[in-house]
Amino acid sequence: MSFGKMPIANSFLKKNQFNKQYFYNMEAGFCNTCFTFQLIKIPKAKMMFNNNYAYLASTSSVMKKHWNKLSKKIIKKSKLNTKSFVVEIGSNDGIFLKNIAKKKINHLGVDASKNVCEIAKSKGINSLNDFFNIKTAKKIKLKYGQADVIVSTNTMHHIENINSVVKGMCELIKDDGIIITEDPSLKEMLKKNAYDQIYAEHMYIWSLSSMSYLFKKYGMEIYDIENNNLHGGCSRYFIAKRNKKKISSRVISQMKLEKRIGLNKLSTFKKFQKRIVTLRGELKSILSKLKKRNKIIVGYGAPAKSTTILNFCDINFKLIDKIFDNTPTKIGKFTPGKSLIKIEDSKKFKKTFSDYCVLFAWNHKKEILSKEKHYSKQHGKWIIPVPKLKIV
Ligand code: TYD
Repeated sequence: MSFGKMPIANSFLKKNQFNKQYFYNMEAGFCNTCFTFQLIKIPKAKMMFNNNYAYLASTSSVMKKHWNKLSKKIIKKSKLNTKSFVVEIGSNDGIFLKNIAKKKINHLGVDASKNVCEIAKSKGINSLNDFFNIKTAKKIKLKYGQADVIVSTNTMHHIENINSVVKGMCELIKDDGIIITEDPSLKEMLKKNAYDQIYAEHMYIWSLSSMSYLFKKYGMEIYDIENNNLHGGCSRYFIAKRNKKKISSRVISQMKLEKRIGLNKLSTFKKFQKRIVTLRGELKSILSKLKKRNKIIVGYGAPAKSTTILNFCDINFKLIDKIFDNTPTKIGKFTPGKSLIKIEDSKKFKKTFSDYCVLFAWNHKKEILSKEKHYSKQHGKWIIPVPKLKIV
């Protein structure tokens, strides 16, 4: 499945960087043996995770609540106390660990991007700026001992050498410890035609089948699963060393469901490809028609996902005037690739007239539409790009 030339999704640009961009050929494939849906060629990790990582998890109040809830659940279920040790892989700006730190529980956040680590540190969260792998895991084990809980949310899909990560988790976790991972779900991506989940930083889109295959190789098993609506639909996996926990009925029924809907068959992905090519045509065509009628079109949210939509659908600054976003690291910059659309502070959205607004952050629809109620009242129309092109 080819998406053509793509820039790095989170590489929002300053004007003087327009001609210095890195492009790669984005192609996705599916493996019949391990059931993994993944990118075929992956840019070097340093290209994606560096000193200027643009994504800050704490920009959404829904996300803050979500991770606060998870921390409470973990503290209760694993009976954590001040002697326990929690490690988070891909700790970003400390959105999850903040809640663990507050309870004075020993913790360490590991993140490959320096700027987000610095933000976490400024909030009093112990942070290590490094890539997590078997080497890092051994170092952490030597310095702090083994972990009671390892959490890795929205990170397992970011790391090319995922086998080294899982080996590292296995090394670092106590025999009776638990690992919790949470990532966008392949089932939901297919259901919602959310092709914008695919970009270099999202090199794998996991399913229960593929995640199980991966952890089994290292003597671990998924004993429970929860699905939620974050990021357009995520699955949270609870993992332990083999035979330590009873496998829940939820795991058994989701395994059956994944087979039933064809997550183990290439033909399922070929059908998905057809659907998204149609969606691409529809979005480009509607925006072009509106522009010809002199309508003013803007965007809301400049998630990494928007880089896939804009570049795959060949949409640029000639069609969309500007995109509003609340992330300090994105405001004032331009969307990457050939799109080059200016990103402005979402605080200005209310005062800026437009006829149509493409909701690129469609996964935050509820939060954004309730914040920007005035837009519909003033006869502005939202364009929702997936699962079907919709104007509301
Ligand atoms: P998100 O979907 O969380 O992540 P990803 O980059 O992984 O696709 O990104 C949502 C974007 O939308 C992010 O740039 C912040 C922005 N946003 C707003 O501007 N206002 C809001 O109220 C919310 C919730 C998000």
